[in-house]
Amino acid sequence: MPTYAVTGSTGHLGRLVIANLLARVPSDEIVALARTPSKGADLGVTVRTFDYDRPETLPPALEGVDRLLLISASEVGKRVPQHQAVIDAAKAAGVSLIVYTSVLHAPDSLLGLADEHRQTEAALAESGVPFALLRNGWYTENYTGSIGAAVEHGVVLGSAGDARVTPATRADYAAAAAVVLTADDPAGQTLELAGDEAFTMAEYAAEVARQSGREVAYQDLPEEDYRAALERIGLPGPVAGMIAQSDAAAGQGALYDDGRALSRLIGRPTTPLADAVAAALAA
Ligand SMILES: NC(=O)c1ccc[n+]([C@@H]2O[C@H](COP(=O)([O-])OP(=O)(O)OC[C@H]3O[C@@H](n4cnc5c(N)ncnc54)[C@H](OP(=O)(O)O)[C@@H]3O)[C@@H](O)[C@H]2O)c1
Repeated sequence: MPTYAVTGSTGHLGRLVIANLLARVPSDEIVALARTPSKGADLGVTVRTFDYDRPETLPPALEGVDRLLLISASEVGKRVPQHQAVIDAAKAAGVSLIVYTSVLHAPDSLLGLADEHRQTEAALAESGVPFALLRNGWYTENYTGSIGAAVEHGVVLGSAGDARVTPATRADYAAAAAVVLTADDPAGQTLELAGDEAFTMAEYAAEVARQSGREVAYQDLPEEDYRAALERIGLPGPVAGMIAQSDAAAGQGALYDDGRALSRLIGRPTTPLADAVAAALAA
């Protein structure tokens, strides 16, 4: 029987992937790979230590693993060597499939973040291990994560102009990952995944206003001013720069895709923006 392993299993996306896998295959076929195993005690599956920065942890954790979901690592700038270490270890362990969470339209994406994903896709191709690419768009939670501040201050800041974006919730991307991981023959697939619904930042702000009953408007800023505003609220410079650059790229269409591959894959519409906003306001 195939054994499925998931990296980053203690993160937001990884937890949801494990839950989706549990709905599809017996729990003893799933291995949660975790940098901090104690965080995975409630996942309901076997947890193995797996730290991208500690190469000695990788081979034993991959013993008996057939299909591996490599959820992209979270430290921007360190990810290429981290992903390479995982790919090398998976190859040595005889893993038959790596599914990797890349970024929407990776080959020509304007997102600064895309470079590490392009390099990882190249490393996968180089490795000879069969692989599938989940080119995930933005998380809706990237917007709704700061909904409290938007309501409090009556403003959504950004640099995306009036461009439309098609994000999807982590739950939608996690469902897709579980479908692909357990599919009959997913090797070779490249999936551009995004939400069904397109909206502008002004439309997002209007939805927040409608549901909260408060005045909330979108204020568009030049990329530099948005970066400075993010730094003023306490984000580290590189993170603020990355977010502002991503938003400016979104302004040029980098976070838009109307192919609807995600809803086809999961067999249902992606989560409507109204539902995501309602969930965030209730949290
Ligand atoms: N598409 C988007 O909009 C978007 C937005 C944000 C992030 N992302 C990407 O998607 C990934 C998953 O998102 P998320 O929201 O689930 O992120 P998250 O909650 O930050 O989870 C990241 C996971 O990676 C693990 N990890 C980090 N460094 C590691 C290392 N050196 N060795 C082993 N595991 C390590 C973390 O382990 P610990 O629990 O020990 O910290 C955690 O389980 C992110 O890592 C990032 O690459 C995409």
